Formats: sequence, structure tokens, C-alpha cells
Amino acid sequence: MSKSGALDLATGVGGKINKEDVQSAVDQYEKYHVCYGGDEETRKANYSDMVNKYYDLATSFYEFGWGESFHFAPRWKGESLRESIKRHEHFLALQMGLKPGMKVLDVGCGIGGPLREIARFSSTSITGLNNNEYQISRGTELNRIAGVSESCNFVKADFMKMPFSDNTFDGIYAIEATCHAPDAVGCYKEIYRVLKPGQCFAAYEWCMTDHFDPNNESHKKTKAEIELGNGLPDIRSTRECLDALKLAGFEVVREKDLAVDSPVSWYLPLDTSKFSITSFRLTAFGRLITRTMVKTLEFVGIAPAGSNRVSSFLEKAAEGLVEGGRCVPPRVGGHRSELLQFLAPRPRLREATTAASRRLRAEKNTSGHLADPDADKLDEVKEEEEARSVLCFADQRKSTFCSNS
Ligand SMILES: C[S@@+](CC[C@H](N)C(=O)[O-])C[C@H]1O[C@@H](n2cnc3c(N)ncnc32)[C@H](O)[C@@H]1O
Repeated sequence: MSKSGALDLATGVGGKINKEDVQSAVDQYEKYHVCYGGDEETRKANYSDMVNKYYDLATSFYEFGWGESFHFAPRWKGESLRESIKRHEHFLALQMGLKPGMKVLDVGCGIGGPLREIARFSSTSITGLNNNEYQISRGTELNRIAGVSESCNFVKADFMKMPFSDNTFDGIYAIEATCHAPDAVGCYKEIYRVLKPGQCFAAYEWCMTDHFDPNNESHKKTKAEIELGNGLPDIRSTRECLDALKLAGFEVVREKDLAVDSPVSWYLPLDTSKFSITSFRLTAFGRLITRTMVKTLEFVGIAPAGSNRVSSFLEKAAEGLVEGGRCVPPRVGGHRSELLQFLAPRPRLREATTAASRRLRAEKNTSGHLADPDADKLDEVKEEEEARSVLCFADQRKSTFCSNS
């Protein structure tokens, strides 16, 4: 059964960490972060330990407060948080053009909320890749309860080194997960490798918008709070993410900051100045109750020592996220563009070769060697073919799925 009761929250804190070691895991986790003297290089070098500690400590809070899907969503007026989350998942599936029978990979799948929803919505088989053992055990139980164990499974592995052969999947998506990667190009390259040529990778990514000023102390503080409260080694800019996709070999046929024209702000559920019956546990009063409950359960020894500190850094994250979303010109984006969405097909072989030859030619030109004029002409023809085929792909997707873009 879905573990959303107070006792489940308390006993789940620490995930697979021994209960008597939770307190020291909180210490070690906090020390990775700027707010506690840590730095980006150490977080990146130890990303696996840092991110796993974070999800061992935080997963039961996520499940209690947010549900089975651990992501935000743009939202319409009158829509509940849960409805918006499901719609956001369906939208991704439609954009990828998922068809019954396809073999799909969910990169960084959490406890499998999106995976179950998308598998049922599209009649596909989905493998959830996750490096956190506790989340996989929760996801496996939830798959069994939902009756999707036949079509969906989990693999415990790092998305920087995937245990799959080249060209395995008919579609790949990642929802607010690759932000944990220490190196975006490395992660996207792995996705590219295991995706079949001509198929699609789509994702919702966490990014900083152009409004982020690295020299502004208040911006820096907000960024550090978001990193601490969300287990992030760093937060990349939108441009860095899009460049990384291209460097990994993808063509980007659609990219959009979904936060910009969302009628209800993505960060609203975390905003304590707002009240909601349907998201009561996230309101100021709901959070006060949770905090008191966690403190009490820790005091009587039901929740492990350190639970209250986890609750505190998650609260800090919520404050940072609201601040990041709020302190920017309306409708222009935050210094954190919460909901960057992109759709990136892996080019077929000929297209990939052409892209490579274009890169080679650019390298030849910069190194001072004269390019062969015939080779240039050949490349131009190939490039035109490539552009036509990518545009055709984009048009096909747009006319079928993206009429609201
Ligand atoms: C914010 S959660 C999102 C989960 C899921 N996509 C969802 O929306 O419910 C990020 C997920 O990425 C996973 N993750 C982080 N780093 C990873 C890595 N190096 N390899 C595999 N999974 C990773 C975490 O364990 C977690 O499940």
C-alpha cells in the first residue's frame, strides 16, 4: 500500500541506512553543501554518495507530502496538484509519440509514480533506472499493488554508466532527475547510446534562467538552499543543458520553459502564504503539524535520531524554491527555470555522420588547414538533407502532439 501515513513517514526516514546511523548520515550530507562549508567539486566527485544519502533521508517525506511522483508541473486554474502532475506525465508521453508495445526507459525514476502512469496511459513496457535501493524497493511494491509488474521493472544503476547495450530503447524520458548528474554531457551521452537511432529522448529539467546573477549574494544563497534541500551537485543554466544535449549528439526539436506561461505557479504548493485543502500537508499549518509529529516521534524513539534535521533542510529547500520562483519579473522566468522541457531525437546514422563531418570541418578550419572544396560541397548537400529530415521529424511531432506549443 502507498505509505502516506505519519508512522510510515517516521519509520521510513533513512531508507536503507541503519537507523542508528541516520544522524551521522545527516551530518555527512549537510557537509557536502555550501550552507555548511561544502563545495561544488566535492559534491560532483562524490555525487553518488551525496544523492543516495539525500534520497534515503528524504524519500518518506516526499511520499508523505507530495505523493508517488516526485516532480512539479505547470498547472491550470481549478486543477488540483495531483491532476496537474498526471497531465504533465501524459503530455510527455504524447510528445514522445509512445505507442503500445514500445520498450521505454525512465531515467532516475524515483518510486515509479510517472512510470506506472505512463505505462498504463501508453500501453508500453517501462524500465525504471534508479541508483537508490530504497526507492526501488518501494517502487517494486507499488508496481505489484498497481498490477503493472509484468510490463514495468526497475534496474539499480547509475545513469552515468548504464548497464544496457547500445540501441536498446524505443524511447527514453527523464523527469527532474538528470539535474543530479555531475556532468550533463556524460549523462546525455549514455542516454544517446542506449536509445535506438531515430527515436526520442524527452525530459523535464531543472535549470537556472538568465536572471540568475552569480555575483548576487541573495541569488547565490537561494541557489545553495535549493542544492542542499534537493541533493544537487550544482544547478545548470538552460543554455548549458541545451548545449550539452547537442554535444551528446541529439538534435533539439522543441524546448520550452513551461514555468513562463503556467496559469498557476509551479511553486505554489510550497508557498506557505497560500492555503489548499487538497495539498493540506504542504500548507503552513500542515507543515507545522508534520514538524511537531516528526519531533515527537523522534523523541519517543519511533523515528530515527536526525529525522527532525531532515525535515528542516527540506523546509529550507521549499523556501529557496519559492524565493527562486518568486523574486523575478512575472512571466519572464525565475532565476530558476523550474520546468524546462525538451524533446530531442537521436539522429539516424546518416544524420549523425553529417553532424560529425560538420564538426570535423569546423575543427579543420580553426586549425588553419584549408578545407577540401569538394568535401565542403558534399557536406552541404548532406547538411541540407539532414536539415530537411530533422525539420520533417519536428513538423511531424509538432502537428501531431505539440499544437499548444
Ligand atoms: C526528483 S527524483 C525524480 C523521480 C521521478 N522521475 C519522478 O518524477 O517521480 C530524482 C531521481 O533521480 C534518481 N537519481 C539521481 N541520481 C541518479 C544516478 N546517478 N543514477 C540513477 N538515478 C539517479 C534519484 O534516485 C531519484 O529517484
